[in-house]
Amino acid sequence: MISHFLSASELSKNDIEKLLFAARAFSTFMRKGENIGLLRGKTVVNMFFENSTRTRVSFELATRRLGGNVINFATSTSSVQKGETLIDTARNIEAMKPDCLVVRHSSAGSPATLARSVAVPVINAGDGFHQHPTQGLLDAFTIQEKLGQVEGKRVVILGDIAHSRVARSDIAILRKLGASVAVCGPPTLLPPSPEALGVEHSYRMEELLPSADVVIALRIQTERQNRMQIPSVQEYSKIWGLNQQRSNLLKPQAIILHPGPVNRGVELDPEVADGPRSVILDQVSNGILVRMAVLASVCSREELGQWLVEQNNFGGENA
Ligand code: CP
Repeated sequence: MISHFLSASELSKNDIEKLLFAARAFSTFMRKGENIGLLRGKTVVNMFFENSTRTRVSFELATRRLGGNVINFATSTSSVQKGETLIDTARNIEAMKPDCLVVRHSSAGSPATLARSVAVPVINAGDGFHQHPTQGLLDAFTIQEKLGQVEGKRVVILGDIAHSRVARSDIAILRKLGASVAVCGPPTLLPPSPEALGVEHSYRMEELLPSADVVIALRIQTERQNRMQIPSVQEYSKIWGLNQQRSNLLKPQAIILHPGPVNRGVELDPEVADGPRSVILDQVSNGILVRMAVLASVCSREELGQWLVEQNNFGGENA
């Protein structure tokens, strides 16, 4: 059976912990400057039908660091522009015998549709407002790295929760690892019943910030809204933007994450985005490690298991 990687909701706590363990092992190994050939001879095709900076580049780097080949399929110069459908496009790429498709699309469910249509593993790199599972993993990895563990931590997600695939994947992964999660934003940008996602909610961040260990700020995703659901960006920033004064309500050790791209001066003031609590660029670096773990797990599962055993036997830091 082909193993796909489509949604954080499908991952068990054990799956998540294994992937984070593998990402930590890659981190240790790469610090020594050694090559990891788990994708040697394999080809990954990045099929991004929606814009991306971090995810696309880090999947490319992750593939190369595992010794694999990578092809970047650019929608703007492809035959999609001549009317070729998503499924026909994927079937034609499949006919060239790649080992994995990494898919980003603006429509929720597109990677799952492709996974049912092709006989090659599909990794979801973000689909509409639905899921961004590798972002959820890299956020969990970053929290572990900075605070030691996710279990028992209080995570507050701020902003446009309703249209955010990051929020959905973060909530699924962080709750499975034992965090308590609360969301905060204007009523129009929260899902109809946040409690159904297993999270608390408030419309005032001042109520949530003092107890937070981790704050994840989100951008307003205007590209997924039929019409602007806030009166104005200026008003949003005034009430729901995380500025220096509000971040002073946080505990001394609390950290601030953002998946990027940041709209400076809207959801985060520049001094907060660049301040000492911000781990935004660490998230970006960690994205490579986590995507290496996902690619190896999907394309070379047995070899990854064997490699991790060898690292343990040789007394690596993860032993
Ligand atoms: N976090 C994230 O998905 O960023 P990109 O859209 O730049 O890939």
